[in-house]
Amino acid sequence: MRRKLIVGNWKMHGSRAMLDEARSIAGAAVSHDSVDVALCPPFTLLSAMVHACPTLAVGAQDCHSAPQGAFTGSVSAPMLVDTGAALVIIGHSERRSLCRETSADVRAKCSAALAAGLRVILCIGEELSEREAGRAVDFVLGQLRDSLPPDFAAHADQICIAYEPVWAIGTGRTAQPDDIVEMHAAIRAALGDAGATIPVLYGGSVNAENAADIVHLDNVDGALVGGASLTLEKFAPIIAAAVQVD
Ligand code: PGA
Repeated sequence: MRRKLIVGNWKMHGSRAMLDEARSIAGAAVSHDSVDVALCPPFTLLSAMVHACPTLAVGAQDCHSAPQGAFTGSVSAPMLVDTGAALVIIGHSERRSLCRETSADVRAKCSAALAAGLRVILCIGEELSEREAGRAVDFVLGQLRDSLPPDFAAHADQICIAYEPVWAIGTGRTAQPDDIVEMHAAIRAALGDAGATIPVLYGGSVNAENAADIVHLDNVDGALVGGASLTLEKFAPIIAAAVQVD
C-alpha cells in the first residue's frame, strides 16, 4: 500500500519567527509514523528549516530549469539540494497563471529537479471553465502529459502528482468526492505501470474538517495543503486524519 503523504505549501508566508511552528509540526509528524509529512517554505527559510527540523522533509516551491547561469532572482535545483531541501513543488497553478509558466517550462523544471535528485511534487488542475464545460479530465490529462518529462517512469520513486482544481485553491471550495475519485483514477491510469508507485495527492482548500473524507478516497494518497499548513493547530489534525484506520 502507498503511504499517505501530507505536504504543506507555505507560499509567500513565513519568517524565522515561524520556525517554532515548523518544529511543532515536525513533532506532530513524528508522532504519526505511518504518514509522511513535508513542509515547503519560501526559499529564504529552507536552510533554517532543514536545520531546525531534522526529522521533517523540507522542500521548495519552484526551481529554475538550468543548473546555474545569468538568471537574476532565480534558484536552481542543485542550489535547493545545497540547502538540504529534499523536494520541490513544480507547476503550481499560481506559477502557471501569475508567472505564465507553460507545461513545457514545467517539464524542463521537472527534468532539472529529478536530475538533481530532488523529489518533485508536480501540480496539475483545471480552471472552473473547463470543469463546467465537462472538459476537466481531458484538460488535466493533457497538462500531465505535457508537464511530465518523457523519461518520468525511470524516476517514478522521485515523482508525486498533486491534482489541484484551480477553483478550489484558497477558496474554501473542494471538489466533489466523485469528481476527485474520477480524476485520480484517470491520472493513475495515464501514468501507466509507474502509476502503481507514484503518489497522487489532492489539493485545494483541504482543512481539518474535510481532510479525512478526502485523503481516504480511492486513489488519493494524501494532500497538498496551503493555508491550513501554516500553524500546528490547523495542520496537525490533517496529518492525524491521514492515518490509516483499517
Ligand atoms: P489551499 O492551497 O489549501 O490554501 O487552498 C493549496 C495549494 O495551493 O497548494
